[in-house]
Amino acid sequence: MRVLVVGGGGREHALVWKLAQSPRVERLFCAPGNAGIEMLATCVPIRATDMEGLLELVRREKIDLTVVGPEGPLAAGIVDRWESEGLKIFGPERRAAALEASKVFAKEFLQRHGIPTARAAVFSAPDAARAYVRSLGAPCVVKADGLAAGKGVVVAATVAEAERAIEDMMVRRVFGAAGEKVLIEEKLEGEEASVIALTDGRSVLPLLPAQDHKAVYDGDQGPNTGGMGAYAPAPVVGESTLQRVCQEILEPVVRGLAAEGVVYRGALYAGLMLTKDGPKVLEFNVRFGDPETQPLLYLLQSDLLPALEATREGRLDEVELSWHPGAALCVVLAAAGYPGAARLGDEIQGLEELAAEEEVMVFHAGTKREDGRWLTAGGRVLNVTARGRNLLEARERAYQAVKRLSFAGMHYRRDIGLKALKYLEG
Ligand code: AMP
Ligand code: GLY
Repeated sequence: MRVLVVGGGGREHALVWKLAQSPRVERLFCAPGNAGIEMLATCVPIRATDMEGLLELVRREKIDLTVVGPEGPLAAGIVDRWESEGLKIFGPERRAAALEASKVFAKEFLQRHGIPTARAAVFSAPDAARAYVRSLGAPCVVKADGLAAGKGVVVAATVAEAERAIEDMMVRRVFGAAGEKVLIEEKLEGEEASVIALTDGRSVLPLLPAQDHKAVYDGDQGPNTGGMGAYAPAPVVGESTLQRVCQEILEPVVRGLAAEGVVYRGALYAGLMLTKDGPKVLEFNVRFGDPETQPLLYLLQSDLLPALEATREGRLDEVELSWHPGAALCVVLAAAGYPGAARLGDEIQGLEELAAEEEVMVFHAGTKREDGRWLTAGGRVLNVTARGRNLLEARERAYQAVKRLSFAGMHYRRDIGLKALKYLEG
């Protein structure tokens, strides 16, 4: 089979790396890819949102299956387009992608189907939003409706902070049209976790539960990023909690969409708060998470390709996934300035020496190769991922590997996985 992966970050490197091991994959393409992906696939410089460019590539290279990494093309309807052309693609259709692309749609859908989530109200005028915040009091959470690269959420400790967020989103329009409407919701308390499942619109097959680290600094301080590290399995999501997540959240979502005429085929990511009243939805993503996918695919023993095909073809009930025992953990190495405007073009040292390291895989998120040198080319640069017999071992191995890598301005969190270790110690 000839497979195209759309995207160019660490998640796509992990997808390409895993698919490259499938005995049925003959040729792999990635658009646009990055310098790490280039070692495993033919990278073609077409942006993930350039639908016509991608379509032309698929026809020219006779691609049998397209696998979509990021949300942009899904929200723009790439799956609907491919299917109308009779082409095979992994991911949900545009109407299903609204679960991520519109937080208002997602919240109203959850409310309609009685699926647990934070109480919220929707506003399309700043005055009404401000008045509501004043009556509600702090803390509260202000969310821009549309896609804002993970930055459109403000957990406000004071009414003034919430009012500032409303001003930024609705009046100053710092996220553009994404801020036309806002949600104001109650702040939930508890531990966060990510459960990503495959679903074909009927069956739901969860991957191992994972945990992301969204804030840029240790101790969850500082602004939110796309994710500074992740590990799996997350011990806070025990067997019975995972069962609740499936029965009370993922399965009702898939059934609710089907009742509204939408068959969800693809990866469905539930961002959860584990509250004392049980798991509640913070957000949905309609794709594999980044960086959660890196430790998850590093732990997956089964071939990924048949699982993706069965998801697409409505045969997911035939699939069983097997996992390496133990755990995997991923540390994101970020460039100077990230999550603001990142400095690019710094030379990376140490990659070659790490290539032979056992149980360590360095996925590339934002890199390029120039005159035989590795250079930074994005805000998130490298995803150092390690496996171990347990989380402690995976964590030590990942941080040992991190010490051997360097570039000017490199920064990373030193506490990835610490919460889980504390939780395991009781
Ligand atoms: P989201 O993109 O909706 O997941 O929001 C980003 C981050 O904001 C989440 O990972 C949480 O840390 C936080 N957050 C979002 N909604 C809430 C909420 N209702 N209560 C507490 N924290 C929240
Ligand atoms: N790690 C969160 C996301 O993929 O959006």
